[in-house]
Amino acid sequence: DETRYRVPVVFHIIHRPGEQIGEGSNISTAQILSQLDVINEDYQRTNADANLTRPEFQDVASSLNIEFVLAKQDPFGNPTTGITRVNGLRNNWGDPSGNSSLDAELKSYSYWPSEDYLNIWVAPLRDGILGYASWPETDIGGVGTPSAPLQDGVVINFIACGSIAKGNFPDIDPDYDLGRTLTHEIGHFFGLLHVSGAGGCNSDDFCTDTPPQSRQTQGDCANFGANPPFSCGTEDMYENYMDYTFDACMNAFTHDQATRAHIVLENSPRRASLL
Ligand code: ARG
Ligand code: ZN
Ligand code: CA
Repeated sequence: DETRYRVPVVFHIIHRPGEQIGEGSNISTAQILSQLDVINEDYQRTNADANLTRPEFQDVASSLNIEFVLAKQDPFGNPTTGITRVNGLRNNWGDPSGNSSLDAELKSYSYWPSEDYLNIWVAPLRDGILGYASWPETDIGGVGTPSAPLQDGVVINFIACGSIAKGNFPDIDPDYDLGRTLTHEIGHFFGLLHVSGAGGCNSDDFCTDTPPQSRQTQGDCANFGANPPFSCGTEDMYENYMDYTFDACMNAFTHDQATRAHIVLENSPRRASLL
């Protein structure tokens, strides 16, 4: 499939009150651009660590052929950098993923029509909450509920946004400093499920080439050693972006995930209208 999908994106930096650019949750432009690079590499399988996909999964690993482009025009047709910065008036948003009114409040600080842009909000969330995404309207498999248009998009914690800032920036989480949280969340935005589905060996992610997996793989794959997780009689694909390992452990989507995401992109109204 040669089609290259192009998706316009806008980053809304909803930072803590009074923070200047480059300070705390008002992350630098370089940090944002490094995040954009990561999603482009991961969705086109040009990521430098693609060779770390284990040999048994190299054949199923696939590009999704999606290019993310910073918006060049704002909703009024004016030129834009594709980055907005807003004083958020909250120091910590907790976990808005389970609180629709809080989620709506966060997103109301800055929102561009979700028919035309993939909205990416970056904010100070509670520690341990890396990000969350809204689900597409066209639901293959009957697993999710789409959000209201005004809440459509993905949210990530600033501590996991981008790939430049490392341990010398105390806020950045070293386990999640390669930008893979956004790769994962945009996967959900395109209708991809966790590789473990709803959990248990009989629950599916509707992708045949991701092996059945009874649970999410947590943590650091460097500790697995000679005993990689084997939850349903075959090796778990813990390097899949839709599993739960640390950023340095993730490096692949599969052909069936590409097919599923393309069906959603072409047929889910608010996704198709992005193209
Ligand atoms: N827990 C989040 C979710 O399920 C994100 C997980 C991201 N993992 C990562 N290595 N960055 O949506
Ligand atoms: Zn997830
Ligand atoms: Ca599967």
